[in-house]
Amino acid sequence: MTGPVREAESPAPTIAHDAARPSRCASGGRPPVAPTPLSIVQTRAAQAVLAVLEGRNADAALAQIDRNGLDGPARSALVDLTLGTLRYLGECRTLLKLFARARPRPLVEAILWVALYQLRHSRTASHVVVSQAVAACAAIDAGARGFANAVLRNYLRDPADAWSRALATPEAEWNHPEWWIRRLKQDHPDAWEAILRGGNGQGPLTLRVNRRRATVEQVRERLAARKISAQALFDHALVLARPRAVEQLPGFREGWFSVQDAGAQLAGPLLGVKDGMRVLDACAAPGGKAAHLAELADLRLTALEIDAERARRLEQNFARLGLAADVRVADAGAPHAWWDGVAFDRILLDAPCTGSGVVRRHPDGKWLKRESDIAQLAAAQARLIDALWPTLAPGGRLLYVTCSVFHAENAAQIERALARHADMRRVRIHLPGAPASAGGQLFPGGNRRTHNHDGYFYALLEKQR
Ligand SMILES: C[S@@+](CC[C@H](N)C(=O)[O-])C[C@H]1O[C@@H](n2cnc3c(N)ncnc32)[C@H](O)[C@@H]1O
Repeated sequence: MTGPVREAESPAPTIAHDAARPSRCASGGRPPVAPTPLSIVQTRAAQAVLAVLEGRNADAALAQIDRNGLDGPARSALVDLTLGTLRYLGECRTLLKLFARARPRPLVEAILWVALYQLRHSRTASHVVVSQAVAACAAIDAGARGFANAVLRNYLRDPADAWSRALATPEAEWNHPEWWIRRLKQDHPDAWEAILRGGNGQGPLTLRVNRRRATVEQVRERLAARKISAQALFDHALVLARPRAVEQLPGFREGWFSVQDAGAQLAGPLLGVKDGMRVLDACAAPGGKAAHLAELADLRLTALEIDAERARRLEQNFARLGLAADVRVADAGAPHAWWDGVAFDRILLDAPCTGSGVVRRHPDGKWLKRESDIAQLAAAQARLIDALWPTLAPGGRLLYVTCSVFHAENAAQIERALARHADMRRVRIHLPGAPASAGGQLFPGGNRRTHNHDGYFYALLEKQR
């Protein structure tokens, strides 16, 4: 995909080192790691963005591109530059087109997207961004030095004018693909702009307190002792004022909490589980909602997951939280292979979907998905509903969930399911955070006091006796 990356000329601005890194003596004579030039981080972020445009998700792309592992601060900068560029890719692409008469090599083009993202949205000094990006481009293609320099300096001459010209395209204005914007306008004529704005925000770090191990107040006190402030939200959610490495939070290893968006934390309570119930989580990994169910009551819980690797992650999460479930690697759409014939009291179907409601956390999703994916996923979701419905006991309830904002996967999916199953009835539910929710649809976004969540869809379906 890309040519070799050479170090930029020195002296080069570098990514600052973690002050907490042990000194030479403390680390037993280990030589200090050389600081990473910003140009290297820009280049790797550009490679990751290109890999996403070729169809790989950002986590997989970063793991592959950063195989040898940059040091802590450079690694954080790499993630920030990659996700930031993907969040604002619409405007970065459009701005570059305004200033580049010919299209450069893909990696040079992507380095310039990264630099434009930094110039518009980061606090790095513009002369540093430009000199490092120019060095990065020149390391790929010596002939690109003048081109990169001219593009970035032309942009800097009048950024406001460039921005107003870029706004002419919907992709630049909303930082989503055009088909996505068109689809949202059709599906949500009154809310499409709010949904797009919410999707362009950044989700906070939200914890779900494990009520079997701690109370919200206990977790809050331990965080406060480390000067970490957190705001309580909904039932057992705590929203941290600033994002942090979760493994380093006090109480994480002891299973006092999990990381889970506040919108996802609505699933457990909506299903209304009680001690002794037979419960199925049909699409369970990595186990966020399944663990919540197991925290709420003593259940006979079966957790199905089609992907063995993801099922292992679920088991690790359950072990950390001190919870138990019967975990099976199986296709929920083929009950003959895993069902013993005893009906479930409750079923959670957190169906595979476009993820169009969670792009504030996964901005790569905006550029990975194709419009045709919606219909394919809707067909897969319908197959799962139909296969699972016979496994639900009369009077039992199935909670259908997606993290999507497209009608075909949500309201339209449920209308069709109700038409196919005479014994299916939709139960009215209340979602907190109105007006951010409508008809079971939670829109992404919010504020710190009343709600702040990703986009989810919930439909609670009861089987008539
Ligand atoms: C939206 S995620 C579930 C997230 C999970 N409920 C949580 O809260 O952590 C959907 C999961 O369903 C799995 N999956 C997809 N198709 C499936 C199928 N036919 N049977 C079982 N699992 C499936 C995917 O591998 C993925 O892990």
